[in-house]
Amino acid sequence: MNIAIDGPAGAGKSTIAKLVAKNLGSIYVDTGAMYRAMALFMIKNNVDSGDIEAIEKTCENADISIVYEDGAQHVILNGEDVTPFLRTEEVGNMASVSSANQCVRTKLVALQQKLAKTTSVVMDGRDIGTVVLPDAECKIYLTASTHTRALRRYKELLEKADGDKSKVAALEEIEKDIADRDYRDMHREHSPLMQAKDAHLVDSSDMTIDEVVREIMRIAKK
Ligand code: DC
Repeated sequence: MNIAIDGPAGAGKSTIAKLVAKNLGSIYVDTGAMYRAMALFMIKNNVDSGDIEAIEKTCENADISIVYEDGAQHVILNGEDVTPFLRTEEVGNMASVSSANQCVRTKLVALQQKLAKTTSVVMDGRDIGTVVLPDAECKIYLTASTHTRALRRYKELLEKADGDKSKVAALEEIEKDIADRDYRDMHREHSPLMQAKDAHLVDSSDMTIDEVVREIMRIAKK
């Protein structure tokens, strides 16, 4: 059984998908990490986010694969494990831009489909239910209000900075960043973020992590 979880940035997809995968004994596949690895490669090669030709050319030289260690996904970029470098704002913003490129998408969708062929997966991203796994047995569109998502991100960053507010961007700035990223992800030409027709909508704005996991397990078992 494959479960597709799509939704905007900061909706809690990875946290939830990991727990659902654990409950079901499935493999968790974080597709955002693959787009982030590609973005990191663009940054390392000094590619300008507006230079479509350079994005396409650079994409051809990126070899991205996935390995699992103790159940955790690691992304290998041209032979190097880049997992620790993927979750920065810079990489996230570049990923939102470079992922709009069809060359990037074709390469990574093929990798994602190959992974789901051999094993049961819980896969999260933006186009899993619509493009990558259109036949997934269970599709979830997980969202939350922009403000809630920004607040969650702010708290996460503050925790990482040991509570030092001076090291963290203002909440309004984070909220604007999230709104910009939503707009780009939802309005791009190729595989824009949207709720698949047969996906169940779960709004986690006023739900705890446990409640969301239980709701998805209930839907999956139907
Ligand atoms: O989920 P995330 O924040 O790690 O994703 C980073 C970017 O990658 C996101 O802004 C859009 C892109 N992405 C995508 O286009 N398709 C996916 N299936 C997953 C992520």
